[in-house]
Amino acid sequence: MDRVIITGAGGRMGRALLAGAGDMTGLKVSAALHRKDDLEAALCHADVVVDFTLPEATVGHLLACRKHRKPVVIGTTGHNAVELAAIEDAAGEIPVVLASNFSTGVNTLFWLTRKAAEILGNDFDLEVVEMHHRMKKDAPSGTARSLAGILASVRKQSLEKVARHGRHGLVGERQPSEIGIHALRGGDVVGDHTVIFAGLGERLELAHKASSRDTFARGALRAAQWLVHQKPGLYDMQDVLGLR
Ligand SMILES: NC(=O)c1ccc[n+]([C@@H]2O[C@H](COP(=O)([O-])OP(=O)(O)OC[C@H]3O[C@@H](n4cnc5c(N)ncnc54)[C@H](OP(=O)(O)O)[C@@H]3O)[C@@H](O)[C@H]2O)c1
Repeated sequence: MDRVIITGAGGRMGRALLAGAGDMTGLKVSAALHRKDDLEAALCHADVVVDFTLPEATVGHLLACRKHRKPVVIGTTGHNAVELAAIEDAAGEIPVVLASNFSTGVNTLFWLTRKAAEILGNDFDLEVVEMHHRMKKDAPSGTARSLAGILASVRKQSLEKVARHGRHGLVGERQPSEIGIHALRGGDVVGDHTVIFAGLGERLELAHKASSRDTFARGALRAAQWLVHQKPGLYDMQDVLGLR
């Protein structure tokens, strides 16, 4: 029986993870931690940590996991370059899954996006549109960044150089190299992502819509069970699902 710690247990994802863990065989929650609780004390009685909190909290949790040699599944999004470097550094010593999206459907969308970009080549204009609930703190979503990153990697571009976050005013003609990224916010939308390939005379759209956080929770718990058997390293959900 794998023993899992859920951090951010009172949050939207924390509550979905606690509910989901009850339905999983071979997994039990050893601690459901809130902001003020002591992760290090709980780590002695756990095999793996699942963290959906805030970027700065994730890094603190990661240091504790590294100290106690425990694997960690990170679902938190919006990390800056320094925080991402800390995650990569820790993955040299402990197994880490970092994924902007744990749903099987979105990971299929990642795979399809790469294939479509490879097939369609450079003649199609690329735009990514996401929509999330009004409480979401970071923008664009980690999933939208991942999708744009896949598009940029197929075209051998640096995403930082070609990303176009929204458009406003007299912006001029669209450059062929641009990858547009657009974040919509409102209501209780769990997570919508569309990748648009716009060509002359035709347009292909790949879309995914999540209607429940349960799909992210199930994927993250599946990743946790997978991770306890892995060597130190930085993995993502494509590794967990065997989509590489
Ligand atoms: N990868 C995916 O598939 C996926 C899916 C959905 C969401 N997410 C990401 O998961 C993260 C959480 O989303 P959410 O909707 O669950 O947010 P949320 O409802 O705001 O919950 C965040 C949780 O983090 C806790 N927290 C904040 N600061 C903390 C700290 N310093 N130490 C310990 N705990 C702290 C909060 O505790 P308090 O209640 O005490 O403030 C709260 O329980 C976001 O980054 C979101 O983008 C990822």
